[in-house]
Amino acid sequence: VPQVFSRHQVLWAKLTLLAIAAIVVTAVVVWHNTMGLAFALDAPVAQPIPFSHKHHVGDDGIDCRYCHNKVEVSGNAGMPATETCASCHSHFYNNQPLLAPIIASYESGRPMHWRRVYDLPDFVYFDHSIHIHKGIGCVSCHGQVDTMPLLRRHASLNMEWCLGCHRDPAAYVRPRDKVFDLHWQPPPDRRALGKALVAKYHIRVGKLTECSLCHR
Ligand code: HEC
Ligand code: HEC
Ligand code: HEC
Ligand code: HEC
Ligand code: HEC
Repeated sequence: VPQVFSRHQVLWAKLTLLAIAAIVVTAVVVWHNTMGLAFALDAPVAQPIPFSHKHHVGDDGIDCRYCHNKVEVSGNAGMPATETCASCHSHFYNNQPLLAPIIASYESGRPMHWRRVYDLPDFVYFDHSIHIHKGIGCVSCHGQVDTMPLLRRHASLNMEWCLGCHRDPAAYVRPRDKVFDLHWQPPPDRRALGKALVAKYHIRVGKLTECSLCHR
């Protein structure tokens, strides 16, 4: 059989194909890493029951603390126990198929497993109570949950996002009694109010970017 291509040409052809494959793979990986987050941010998270913050918070006006009852006093906000749901739903909606998993959990004593929407890596320290105590509203980090039929992630939770506020808390701080108010509108002199509250709440501006604050 006469050789149409020399061994050199075959080798070059193979190398060229490999190079093209490598470029395609790299492009896909880069695209996935940069765009993947943008998709994850706004995608609603499916739950064992389609629990709606829009209905319970937006329409029915139930306070966050009724269900996330540790948010003011501990690092962890706390997730509602089945009994909390049952306080209402053992009386009504209790024969709705949608609610069957809650009724089953109530009767068996096995807790519900809600899928996490916000989850920091273990090497990052976070504490809700200090943020609440120093006048940072839920809405600043979790967005307008009262409009979400299924919860969506509002913030990336990456380091730059935390630092954005830690460098300049005056731009975000609000009166303590407005922390749970998702519709509070800052006054026109937002900057002046922010500065006054930073002083009043003894917020340690300048110290909040120290690595050991969040990496202990
Ligand atoms: C009637 C109970 C109830 C009330 C009231 C309520 N929540 Fe929730 N919350 C839940 C349940 C159940 C979940 C888990 C299912 C889900 O993610 O939607 C949850 C999940 C969350 C999560 C995501 C937690 C995670 O990382 O997975 C955030 C953030 C949150 N709620 C914020 C709020 C805020 C802010 C308010 C008040 C404005 C509020 N919730 C009021 C029941 C409630
Ligand atoms: C304070 C009373 C109260 C509590 C506590 C409560 N619910 Fe509800 N729930 C309601 C009301 C009222 C409705 C009717 C909602 C509407 O249409 O506005 C409802 C409706 C629902 C529905 C039907 C679908 C919908 O969103 O309309 C589901 C599912 C549900 N609740 C799940 C839960 C779960 C899970 C918990 C516990 C984390 C819970 N509820 C806690 C009052 C409550
Ligand atoms: C400064 C930003 C910030 C504020 C303000 C904030 N959260 Fe969170 N929240 C987070 C972060 C970050 C997580 C993930 C924590 C983790 O993975 O350890 C989280 C997680 C949660 C969770 C899941 C359970 C947990 O504690 O991990 C709930 C529920 C929640 N937040 C409710 C609330 C409510 C209600 C408020 C207002 C009273 C609030 N958050 C205010 C940043 C914030
Ligand atoms: C919207 C503003 C805001 C955002 C976003 C924010 N913080 Fe904070 N954080 C504060 C303020 C204000 C304080 C209180 C500072 C003080 O007391 O001097 C604080 C304090 C802290 C503290 C100190 C706790 C202590 O016990 O001393 C830690 C840790 C912390 N934040 C972690 C985080 C992490 C991690 C994130 C991102 C996932 C984050 N914060 C996002 C405003 C914010
Ligand atoms: C306000 C809180 C906060 C402070 C202050 C902070 N970090 Fe982070 N850091 C985070 C969070 C949140 C993550 C997780 C990021 C993620 O999951 O994408 C992180 C992640 C990291 C990582 C892992 C790589 C990465 O970027 O994901 C390194 C390394 C790191 N931080 C170093 C530092 C150093 C060094 C300092 C001081 C100059 C510092 N951090 C200060 C919150 C903080």
